[in-house]
Amino acid sequence: MALPIGVLISGSGSNLQSLIDKIAEGSLDASIKLVVSNKADAYGLERAAKAGIATRVLKHGDYSRREEFDAEMVDALKAAGVKVVVMAGFMRIITSVLLKAFPERVINIHPALLPSFPGVDAQGQACTHGVKIAGCSVHFVDEGMDSGAVIQQAAVPVFSGEDRDALQKRILKMEHRILPQVVQWLSQDRLSISGRQVILKKATVDQIHPDNCLINPPLEAGF
Ligand code: GAR
Repeated sequence: MALPIGVLISGSGSNLQSLIDKIAEGSLDASIKLVVSNKADAYGLERAAKAGIATRVLKHGDYSRREEFDAEMVDALKAAGVKVVVMAGFMRIITSVLLKAFPERVINIHPALLPSFPGVDAQGQACTHGVKIAGCSVHFVDEGMDSGAVIQQAAVPVFSGEDRDALQKRILKMEHRILPQVVQWLSQDRLSISGRQVILKKATVDQIHPDNCLINPPLEAGF
């Protein structure tokens, strides 16, 4: 049975679109039961409507406590039959109210190689810091800020002189690859968590060769 998921968004919803597209292509065995946005003008709501997906706007400003906002989300997600919650550009910290309702079933996509650069504007933080390799991470959500156990990461080189927006675009392309992949693993029940270690069961693709790594700037001849 297709995994019933709920997707939380705050903005453009391009990661939501990647899920919609992979489901339509037949590579992701999931069904998006509800899209929740904390912003009424999030473009992702239009993407959802176009795909015939139910939407709900819950404005966090209408609630005096984070827990009340989360309880409302839980009610909506449960009523829609959601089993896994995907935070796809959802710019709110969630509380134990949501986590307890979906234990080990809330994931988030973050545009950095965690634990580097948690929080807002991770891509800008990476540029300012001058790292040579940036990337994105999908992780289980805990009560901290982008601090839960990492499931999958993609490394993206930062090119010399590249600005934040160019880097953001290249990272986003990789986000669109890894987020649907992780949801598919959840759909297939192939992830187990032991402490902070997330193990992918029955990997169908060989491990990356141990000598195969990304070095940026590249090594020159003789090194
Ligand atoms: C994505 O880059 C996502 O990783 C980031 O917001 C963007 C949303 O784009 N999320 C965070 O920074 C969470 N800390 P989208 O709305 O087009 O999917």
